[in-house]
Amino acid sequence: MLQRFGNAILEKDKTGVNEKRCEVIAVTSGKGGVGKSTISANVAINLQQMNRRVLLVDADIHLGNIDLILGTRSRLTIADVVKDGVELEDIIIKGPGGIDILPASSASLDLIQSEDAFLKKLAAAFSRFDNPYDYMILDTGAGIARNVVSFLFSAHKIILVITPDPASITDAYAVIKVVRSIDKEIPIFMTSNMVSSADEGEILFKKMNLMVQKFLESRILFGGSILRDDLIGRSIKVQKPFVLHHPNSGSTTAIRVLNRRVLHASSNIGTESNNLFERLLSTKKIQFEWNV
Ligand SMILES: Nc1ncnc2c1ncn2[C@@H]1O[C@H](COP(=O)(O)OP(=O)(O)OP(=O)(O)O)[C@@H](O)[C@H]1O
Ligand SMILES: [Mg+2]
Repeated sequence: MLQRFGNAILEKDKTGVNEKRCEVIAVTSGKGGVGKSTISANVAINLQQMNRRVLLVDADIHLGNIDLILGTRSRLTIADVVKDGVELEDIIIKGPGGIDILPASSASLDLIQSEDAFLKKLAAAFSRFDNPYDYMILDTGAGIARNVVSFLFSAHKIILVITPDPASITDAYAVIKVVRSIDKEIPIFMTSNMVSSADEGEILFKKMNLMVQKFLESRILFGGSILRDDLIGRSIKVQKPFVLHHPNSGSTTAIRVLNRRVLHASSNIGTESNNLFERLLSTKKIQFEWNV
């Protein structure tokens, strides 16, 4: 059984007739340490720079480190939502560039031991959440653990980060395989990070897309290449996101390109060809669980 947080994508219109859509974009990877949090934070801030309202969700629920990357301090976290019934609205903090942040808890044995209950309560909190955002960026953990997959299936679009490291590539393929086993349509934007050239990044994408076409009879999209850049390491150390402090850098351009591609892609939501999201958006009665 998986949990999902689909109701987070709905905001009720005052008339109760229409629903305003909040697009949920999950940033994930097969292998850890490939740049998910760095990319999530900068993607979120860049969207906010485009005058969108953005919530950056630290969805790496056990080992979240958005606080560390952005230099924010959170008194309450999702652990308080789950354990003490605090509402999501009360734990959201302000981040750089005007984004809002939903902080994760740091290593809690309780949460590890009762992850299913945790996910269920978190999903319930999302169902009560009066969502004012245009975009939610989910910075997930790495791999195909249940909680990560749950977040992926709550998203409209997925940014899948890889690096040239062979383990990162094979693990990314595993993520695609799991996602495609349930959802053939959700756009997956493979983003090649820490590459030495744009060409290297594109070749990685083409190879992966060929495998996906051949073995999964599906396809993925290219989010672009982000070069290995010392500026990124330095920005993380001083907790100053590069899209804000180095707007003319190549890395900032790469984030803008990624956002443009992701935003322009249709996610087929609401079409009959996509039953999962059809269900999510056509009913306010959210089902949190389904069998894989
Ligand atoms: N393009 C890049 N060039 C140089 N360093 C980078 C680049 N992208 C990320 N990094 C560095 O790689 C490290 C890992 O990045 P980050 O924490 O964002 O990865 P992650 O995928 O979120 O890791 P985890 O799986 O542990 O959550 C950080 O020190 C970051 O500064
Ligand atoms: Mg991370």
